[in-house]
This record gives sequence, structure tokens and C-alpha cells, in this order.
Amino acid sequence: MSATGSGYSPGLKGVIAGETSLAMIDGAQGRLLYRGYPIGELVEHGTYAQVAELLWTGEWAAQSDGVQLACAPLPAEVVGTLRELPPQTNPMDALRTGLSAWGATTGFAWPPSAEQARQVTAVAPSVLAAFARLRDGLDPVEPDPSLTLPAGFLYQLSAARPNAVEARALEAYFVVCAEHGFNASTFTARVITSTHSDLVSAVVGAIGALKGPWHGGAPSEVVNQLHQMGSPAEAEAWIRAALASGERLMGFGHRVYRAYDPRAAALRKVAEGLASVAGWLEKAIAVEEIALRLLAEHKPDYPIKTNVEYYAAAVLQGVGLPPNLFPATFALARHAGWTGHTLEQATANVLIRPDVRYVGPAERHLADG
Ligand code: ACO
Repeated sequence: MSATGSGYSPGLKGVIAGETSLAMIDGAQGRLLYRGYPIGELVEHGTYAQVAELLWTGEWAAQSDGVQLACAPLPAEVVGTLRELPPQTNPMDALRTGLSAWGATTGFAWPPSAEQARQVTAVAPSVLAAFARLRDGLDPVEPDPSLTLPAGFLYQLSAARPNAVEARALEAYFVVCAEHGFNASTFTARVITSTHSDLVSAVVGAIGALKGPWHGGAPSEVVNQLHQMGSPAEAEAWIRAALASGERLMGFGHRVYRAYDPRAAALRKVAEGLASVAGWLEKAIAVEEIALRLLAEHKPDYPIKTNVEYYAAAVLQGVGLPPNLFPATFALARHAGWTGHTLEQATANVLIRPDVRYVGPAERHLADG
């Protein structure tokens, strides 16, 4: 813990700011459990709909119970709002704006409910897909209720049903990214919920926090950095120069994990099944080895390992998404966790309002000159 006296810890590092039964993250061993179930098992045997219900209700429903979560249609007001955005709008801004407009049509109020969580999670992919088409001069596509949420998102983007391999890969990505403890965006959602504000406001605030490149903005930066490095043979020199100039390697490092991020391991496996990204993946694996060695030299006392975003970049490219949609796709997947946390916050709510240490001038007076 990096507390510097009087319980102060910059960035709340090491501070326990609440309790949760949603995700258990073992940073030392590189383990992640959702309500007790290991992430590897959930990726292999579960769907996003099952995982979302698990997070919202605490119950694991067998697929035969007919757990369904499909993309929802957009009200005309939301499509109208998205049409007004300039085509060059950052997709995270479009998602945030579209959901904010949708929230205005719902009248959701405190307290949040599992049904509200289902609704916002189901409408978010439709918002993003509609924006992605509108910016290209295309009309939005009506959702297909027979498709799972991740497959339905791909369908609404391209107007073509994804093949089974792509659908399964994005399903796995959504499961892996559904929830992750008190990260910055989830904490933001909980802070907003703690004021008795509504669930859509909590999600909109969380999107703002996730937008930053140190959080959800990393996978598109992974693609940029790998591109800039050139061939794996050139990567070592590029990485050495980047670290020497204080740059961060995207897709590496984590506030909690000191071991290899189990989500990165799960997504690497998924990416290995995507033929369309085989060449890129081969390079990414070669560069990862070099990066881990150089990061260990750079920070011998602070283990910096591969994080989820590194192989997320491979999966998202492999299912045909452009890098500028990566952060917003991450946001779609994280809806289950954000909303699960709002429900948990609301059940035993305490206003989240920490103290701050004042370091400004001592009392003075305008008349002093
Ligand atoms: N590359 C190079 N140096 C790094 C990296 C990195 N990826 N990560 C941390 N460091 C260095 C920092 O520069 C710092 O060095 P200094 O003490 O000399 O200033 C030291 O390690 C500690 O850095 P902090 O920011 O205090 O450590 P923290 O563990 O809180 O950082 C973070 C976590 C912000 C994710 C960081 O590792 C990072 O910026 N990574 C790159 C961005 C990224 O991949 N983000 C996605 C995270 S996963 C997610 O949010 C879904």
C-alpha cells in the first residue's frame, strides 16, 4: 500500500473502498472469478446473457432455462440524436450521447433494478451500431431478436449475420470483459449511484471514465504501437526508445495484477481460433515476449505483465471491427458489470464521498493586496 500518512493514498492505491460479491480478483496469482466461477470456465461454457444474469441476480441459469439477452430497438429520438452527430465523432462520445438521450426517454429513477440493467445493456449495442452506420452514410439496421447480444451487435453493424466462429469469439470477449471489480469506470458508476441518481446516469458516467487510454482506450493503442514498431526484429529498439522516453506500452501493466492477466490468456486462446488475424497474432506474440523482458528490466521491482487489452485487440480485429470501435465495444461488454455494481451499491447504499487533503494557500484576504 502506498499510503503516505493520515490514510492518504494517491489514486486510492491499496485502499479498500467497498465490498462486492461480483468479482474476485487475485492479482498475485492472476485469478478472476465472477461470483465464485473461474473466468476460464465461464468463457468456455457460458454466454454473455448467462454471465450478465449471474452478475445481476447471483444465479447461474443453465442455458436450457432459456436465458436470453438480445439487442433492443432504438426509439426514434435516439436515432435522431445520433444523426445530428458529426461523422468524425469519437464512438465513445456517440455511445455516451446516445445512451444519455435514451435515458431521457426511460424516466428511470432510483433505485436501479435488474430489469433496468437488462434494458440498458440491450440497447447499448444498438446505439453504437446505429452510429457506426450513420457516420458511413448508411441507415441503422433493426435488431434481430433471435441473435445473442454480441452476434446481434455484429449484425447491426454490417447487416450480415456473423459466422459461428466470429459470433463465438465476440461472445467470449464479452464474457471476459463483463466485470472487473473497482476499476475506474465501475467506481464512477458506484459513486453516481451512491447519490441516488439513476442507472443510466451511472452508465453514462462510467463510459466517460472508460474512454481514457489508461483504461478502456488501450486496445486501439495496442494496434497503433504494434504498427509503429515495424517487424518483430525492429520491436526491441522501438520499445527500448519508448520506455527510455517515459512512454507506456499499451496492453501491459495493471493496477491489481502483478501476475499475467487471466483475461489476456483467455482472449489469446480465442484469438488463436480466428484465421483472419493469424499473421497479426503471430507478430503480437513475438512482440509480447520482447516487451515482457524489457519491462522487467525497466521496472525490476514492479512486475508489469500483459493485460486484457493486448489480446482484446486481436479478437476485435479478428471479428472485423475497426480499431476506432474497440473502446466502445469494450464499454458494451462492461455494461453487465457496471449495472451489476449499481444494483449492489443500491442494496446497501452509503454516499461515496472521501475526504481530501487541502494543499492550497493559508487563509488570506483580498484586502491584503
Ligand atoms: N509501460 C511502461 N511503464 C509502465 C507501464 C507500461 N504499460 N505500466 C506502468 N508503468 C510504469 C509507470 O511508468 C510507473 O513508472 P514510474 O514509477 O517510473 O513513474 C510505474 O510503472 C507505476 O505506474 P502506475 O501508473 O503508478 O502503476 P499502475 O499499476 O497503477 O498502472 C496502468 C496501471 C495505468 C494500467 C498502467 O499499467 C498503464 O498505463 N498501462 C498502459 C495502458 C493500458 O494498457 N491500460 C489498460 C489497462 S486494463 C483496463 O483498464 C481494462
